[in-house]
Amino acid sequence: MRRILSTLACCLLHPLIASAIGDARYNASLPFRPSNITGLSDIYLWVGSYYNATTKIEFTPEIGSTTNNSVCKNLQGQTFTAEYESLLAITERGPYNLGSNLVNTLLTLWNSDVNLTSLSSGSPWTSSSLDWYLESAPWVYYANNGSTESDAGTDSSVKDVFNLTLSPETKGPPYKLTANIKDADLMLSSFEMDLKSCNTSTETSQNRMTLVDRDWSNNAGWTWIYPTVDFQFDSRTANFTLNGYAAGFPYLINRSDPSKSLGPDEVQGKIKVSFFGVIDSYHSDTLVNSSSTPTWLRTVGFGNNSANIGYDNASLGSPRPWHWGAVAVCSVVSLVFMYF
Ligand SMILES: *[C@@H]1O[C@H](CO)[C@@H](O)[C@H](O)[C@H]1NC(C)=O
Ligand SMILES: *[C@@H]1O[C@H](CO)[C@@H](O)[C@H](O)[C@H]1NC(C)=O
Ligand SMILES: *[C@@H]1O[C@H](CO)[C@@H](O)[C@H](O)[C@H]1NC(C)=O
Ligand SMILES: *[C@@H]1O[C@H](CO)[C@@H](O)[C@H](O)[C@H]1NC(C)=O
Ligand SMILES: *[C@@H]1O[C@H](CO)[C@@H](O)[C@H](O)[C@H]1NC(C)=O
Ligand SMILES: *[C@@H]1O[C@H](CO)[C@@H](O)[C@H](O)[C@H]1NC(C)=O
Ligand SMILES: *[C@@H]1O[C@H](CO)[C@@H](O)[C@H](O)[C@H]1NC(C)=O
Ligand SMILES: *[C@@H]1O[C@H](CO)[C@@H](O)[C@H](O)[C@H]1NC(C)=O
Ligand SMILES: *[C@@H]1O[C@H](CO)[C@@H](O)[C@H](O)[C@H]1NC(C)=O
Ligand SMILES: *[C@@H]1O[C@H](CO)[C@@H](O)[C@H](O)[C@H]1NC(C)=O
Ligand SMILES: *[C@@H]1O[C@H](CO)[C@@H](O)[C@H](O)[C@H]1NC(C)=O
Ligand SMILES: *[C@@H]1O[C@H](CO)[C@@H](O)[C@H](O)[C@H]1NC(C)=O
Repeated sequence: MRRILSTLACCLLHPLIASAIGDARYNASLPFRPSNITGLSDIYLWVGSYYNATTKIEFTPEIGSTTNNSVCKNLQGQTFTAEYESLLAITERGPYNLGSNLVNTLLTLWNSDVNLTSLSSGSPWTSSSLDWYLESAPWVYYANNGSTESDAGTDSSVKDVFNLTLSPETKGPPYKLTANIKDADLMLSSFEMDLKSCNTSTETSQNRMTLVDRDWSNNAGWTWIYPTVDFQFDSRTANFTLNGYAAGFPYLINRSDPSKSLGPDEVQGKIKVSFFGVIDSYHSDTLVNSSSTPTWLRTVGFGNNSANIGYDNASLGSPRPWHWGAVAVCSVVSLVFMYF
C-alpha cells in the first residue's frame, strides 16, 4: 500500500510526467494551441507559420505638413532607411473572425535590444517595447480566466482590418495574398524612425511615423495612394511588402510639457516596408503543401514534429526514453520509501 502511494505521489509530482498531461481546455475548433507547452511565448499562441527576418523601411519625403509646405531643407531629396527585428505570423482563423479572409496575418517590428520571447501575457505585440505591428484582423486570445479577449477590446469588433485576396487559380504553396489598406486608422499606431532634424535647436531627428490610410486636412490636395500589401509564403519562406505613404512628426527636444511633445515640422512622403523571412520551424505547425488554401496540420504541442518546441517532453503514442528514465526514478524512490 505504502509503495503504491509513494509511487503515485512520485509519478504525480514528477515534472516530466506532469507535463504529459493534456490541456483540458484545448478545443480543436479554435485556432489556439494547447496551453501545456512549456516556454512558449504568448506571441506564438496560434496555429500557423511564423517567419523571422529583419524588416527594412524606406521613407522618401515629398511634402511638409500640407501640400503648400515643402519639405524642410535638411530632408529634401533623400531616402531614409531603418531596420528592425521582426516576425511575420500567418495563422488559422477563429470562428469569431468576421470577414472573408482565409488567414490572419501579423507583422511586428522591434529594436534589437528587446527580447521578444520574454514578452508575455495577453497581446505582447501591442507591448510598448515593440515598435509597430500591422495585423489583418484584431488578435483574439484566451485570457487567464479562460474567456477569449481581443486586442481590439470587445469580441464584436473582430472584423478584418483589411481584406486579403488570394491570387486566383492557386493550387498550393506559395500562396500570394494582396490587400489595400483603406480607412483602417492605422495612423493611430506609430513607429519610430530616425530622419534628420529640420530645426536642430528645437526638434530631435527622431520622428513618430504613421501610415497614411485616410483623408485628412494635412494630406488634402496631395497625390497619395492607400497602402498596398503583398504577401507570399510557403513552408520555407515568406515575403511581405507594403507600399504607400506615411507622415513623420519630429519630437521636441524639450518635452517637459507632455501636451507638446511633437514639433511643427511634419514631413510626409513615400514609404516601403520589406520583409524577406525564413520559417521559424521551432514555433510553426506544418503547412500542408497540396491545398488550394492555406491549411496546417497541428504539430506544436502534439509531439509529432521533431523540429518543434517541446518535442522532447511531448506525449507520444509509445513511451520514449525519458519515460523509462522517469519510471526508473519513481521505482528507486518507491524502494527508498519501502525500506525507510
Ligand atoms: C497538450 O495537450 C494536448 C491537448 O489536450 C495533448 O494532445 C498533448 O498531448 C499535450 N502535450 C503535452 C506535451 O503534454
Ligand atoms: C469549441 O469551440 C467551438 C467554437 O467556438 C464552440 O462552439 C464549442 O462549444 C467549443 N467546445 C467546447 C467543449 O468548449
Ligand atoms: C494651398 O494653397 C492654395 C492656394 O493658396 C489654397 O487654395 C489651398 O487651400 C491650400 N491648401 C492647403 C491644404 O492649405
Ligand atoms: C530571452 O528571454 C527568454 C525567456 O525569458 C530567455 O530564455 C532567453 O535566454 C532570452 N534571450 C536572450 C538573448 O537574452
Ligand atoms: C477575464 O479577464 C478579463 C481581463 O483580462 C476581463 O476583462 C473579463 O471580463 C474576464 N472575464 C470573465 C468571464 O471573468
Ligand atoms: C472587405 O470586404 C467586405 C465585402 O467582401 C466589405 O464589406 C468590407 O468593407 C471590406 N473591408 C475592408 C476593410 O475593406
Ligand atoms: C527653429 O525654431 C525656433 C523656435 O521656434 C525659431 O525661432 C527658429 O527660427 C527656427 N529655425 C529654423 C531654421 O526654422
Ligand atoms: C521570397 O523572396 C526570396 C528572395 O527573393 C525568394 O528566394 C523566395 O522564394 C521568396 N519566397 C516566396 C514564398 O515567395
Ligand atoms: C521646456 O518647456 C517648459 C514647458 O513649456 C518650460 O517651462 C521650460 O522653460 C523649457 N525648458 C527649456 C530649457 O527651454
Ligand atoms: C526566430 O526567432 C525566434 C524568436 O527570437 C527564435 O526563438 C527562433 O529560434 C528563430 N528561428 C530562426 C529560424 O531564426
Ligand atoms: C509535400 O509533403 C509531403 C509530406 O510532408 C512530402 O512527402 C512531399 O515531398 C512534399 N511535396 C513538396 C512538393 O514539397
Ligand atoms: C499531430 O497531432 C495532431 C493532434 O492529434 C493532429 O491534429 C495533427 O494532424 C498531427 N500532425 C501531423 C503532421 O501528423
